[in-house]
Amino acid sequence: MGLLLDGFEIEWRERGIGDAVLFVHGFPLNSAMWGPQLAALPAGWRGIAPDLRGFGASEPGDAGVYRMDLLADDLAALLDRLGIERTVLCGLSMGGYIAFEFWRRHEDRVRALVLSDTRAGADSTEARDARRALAQQALALGTGAVVTPMLPRLLSPATMRKKPGVVAMVRAMMEETAAETMARALLGMAERADAEPLLRTIDVPVLVLWGEHDVITNRGQGEWLARGIRGARLELIPGAGHLPNLEEPEEFNSALNHFLVGLPHDTLSTRRVLSA
Ligand code: MLT
Repeated sequence: MGLLLDGFEIEWRERGIGDAVLFVHGFPLNSAMWGPQLAALPAGWRGIAPDLRGFGASEPGDAGVYRMDLLADDLAALLDRLGIERTVLCGLSMGGYIAFEFWRRHEDRVRALVLSDTRAGADSTEARDARRALAQQALALGTGAVVTPMLPRLLSPATMRKKPGVVAMVRAMMEETAAETMARALLGMAERADAEPLLRTIDVPVLVLWGEHDVITNRGQGEWLARGIRGARLELIPGAGHLPNLEEPEEFNSALNHFLVGLPHDTLSTRRVLSA
């Protein structure tokens, strides 16, 4: 499905009818990574997984740098166009950085948060420099400069060994992403604001889901995040690395769906349905 937003066409996948869950993909992936979640949502839920600008089937638009606040505003504009007031927001890694910006800018539209393998803090100076260097390499050498070093770090050793279909799918998503998009998003992640001060302002239900063997954002960061947000619950996904929703989808879905069905009734959603 596609819609014109701010001068570019955004595409998304969706499944189901009911209250919204918006799934935000990681870098340098696309909405296909949420296929196992869209397929398994409980009755009464509508899953929406956009391709962020430049990724998947969405057009790149003309922003030079894909800042996290820009991408968060794209999501708010998509919700406007779909007539959705409030949503559960589920972000993995870069998707989590965008979820924090969404909270900063559109807090009243967030019914609950699911944060997976992400971090609230800004990059250190070294991490920022490394991202900028990688952006230059992607532009000069092509996507392989990102895919080759990153793929084995995205997946756990067990996934790399035993799940060739998942490895091939993740590789295909990465290779499909234009070098220009990678560079724009790397620069955007390097510039992202510190979201740590936001954590104590989060007053909606939060589930933190983490791959037990994630080496990009380790489980200590998941524990730290869950401790910093009032009432947040951490669930570790055994056997998974940085992409637990793809590596161990049944475990991930079971935790996600249990969280969704246990959420308090959303009066705003009800009002929308009654007045529709
Ligand atoms: C991601 O999975 O989105 C990236 O690992 C995020 C990052 O590079 O910080």
